[in-house]
Amino acid sequence: MLNERTLIKDTPNKIGQKVKLYGWVHIRRDHGKLIFIDLRDASGIIQTVFIPSNKEAHEIASTLRSEWVVEFEGQINERPEKLKNNDIPTGGVEILVEKIFIFNESKTPPFEVATESGVGEETRLKYRYLDLRREKMKNNIEMRHKMTRFFRDWFSNDGFLEIETPILTKGTPEGAREFIIPSRLYQGKFYVLPQSPQQFKQLLMVAGMEKYFQVARCFRDEDQRGDRQPEFTQIDLEMSFVDEEDIMNLIEKSVVDMVAKLFPDKKIQKNPFPKINHQESMEKYGNDKPDLRNDKNNRDELAFAWIIDFPMFEYSKTDKKLGATHHPFTHPKDEDLELLDKNPEKVKAKAYDLVLNGYEIGGGSIRIHKADLQNKIFQILGLSDKQIKDRFGHILEAFSYGTPPHGGFAFGFDRLVMILAGEPNIREIIAFPKTGDAKDLMMDAPSKIPDGQLKELGIKIANS
Ligand code: AMO
Repeated sequence: MLNERTLIKDTPNKIGQKVKLYGWVHIRRDHGKLIFIDLRDASGIIQTVFIPSNKEAHEIASTLRSEWVVEFEGQINERPEKLKNNDIPTGGVEILVEKIFIFNESKTPPFEVATESGVGEETRLKYRYLDLRREKMKNNIEMRHKMTRFFRDWFSNDGFLEIETPILTKGTPEGAREFIIPSRLYQGKFYVLPQSPQQFKQLLMVAGMEKYFQVARCFRDEDQRGDRQPEFTQIDLEMSFVDEEDIMNLIEKSVVDMVAKLFPDKKIQKNPFPKINHQESMEKYGNDKPDLRNDKNNRDELAFAWIIDFPMFEYSKTDKKLGATHHPFTHPKDEDLELLDKNPEKVKAKAYDLVLNGYEIGGGSIRIHKADLQNKIFQILGLSDKQIKDRFGHILEAFSYGTPPHGGFAFGFDRLVMILAGEPNIREIIAFPKTGDAKDLMMDAPSKIPDGQLKELGIKIANS
């Protein structure tokens, strides 16, 4: 009895040895008396062979079906030269199986795991755990992990601290509708899920941390699109004693290093990244996230650019009220401060967006760090003194205790992974995404909750 498991990826180093493999039946092919089974584990796929003289194993093998979970024991042999499959790392070997143990059977899956053949997205999402067994999805999830790890290491090595900020919190105005969580202990009151860690990261600068980052989950209750999910991930960061150039240079360096390490075959079109004035982008390209590739169909061309000089405020299309273009914590350009009272719509902001191949993949700004200026911006946005105190009293107070100048940035991480993986939407690079209409088909969320739970929260559903 062999005790130790061998991973499929390690089989080419063990030619001639007896090994024990665990995994899933990928494909079974019967060739006359020979049975071939491709066995799959998380590390790879290997061809296994069953011959009639190994009677028991051969008999069991003939009953195995796709996606059954098994243990195979046998000898690893080099395949004859002309039967080698050079497309996969284990294509030079096969295992002659002598013993089989079945851990678990599988119903016939609703779609084939072994091929990428067309199957509706609803079915894929309902059975996401099967979809994730497929090679393309597995590769995407692995690539995402490598990118997360890269940024974690990169910013950690640069002296940033990874700090978790709360998920149950209070509303912060960043333009989207918020998800709210009813409080049981304080009936009629609600927590709000963060649209981003914006206020907390600024408060960490007040706290003297100086360099913060986080792989941060963000929540926004907005209409879905291919590049939007109700919950998504940012690589979020903030620094003290910096200006716009410092942050843009840092972000640029991290991205260039990431592409060089993880995507050496891709080409960054212009380095350093071009900087385009917001107004120029609107006039020349009709939008603020232009696709600057020479060949718009070339996935290996990466056309990064900064969009800068955003207006501080814009009028909302629906109610014609003045709103913050980025968010109300953004610092106006110093030379425009005097325009704030009479001509706020002419004020430019110390804000910058990073665009890539027609997508906004991140944004940030230098922040206001003085209570009086922050208060003035809230007033220009039409908030009453009471509203300012109720909603932002904490941050205004914090600013009165020695707040350093600071600024930051957040990558829309899902979008960045999507583009680098060459995928058409961010659902393809998120393990368990929501559908276009914000449902989780696998878990069946959102769903009703029992009356007792509602009662505990003091909630009655109207019209039910
Ligand atoms: P912003 O709102 O621009 O800035 O968000 C930063 C980036 O997050 C991505 N993004 C999304 N990705 C997927 N689904 C969504 N619903 C979604 N919404 C936004 C975008 C965007 O560029 N706190 C500030 C950052 C800062 O100022 O430092 C913020 O959240 O790629």
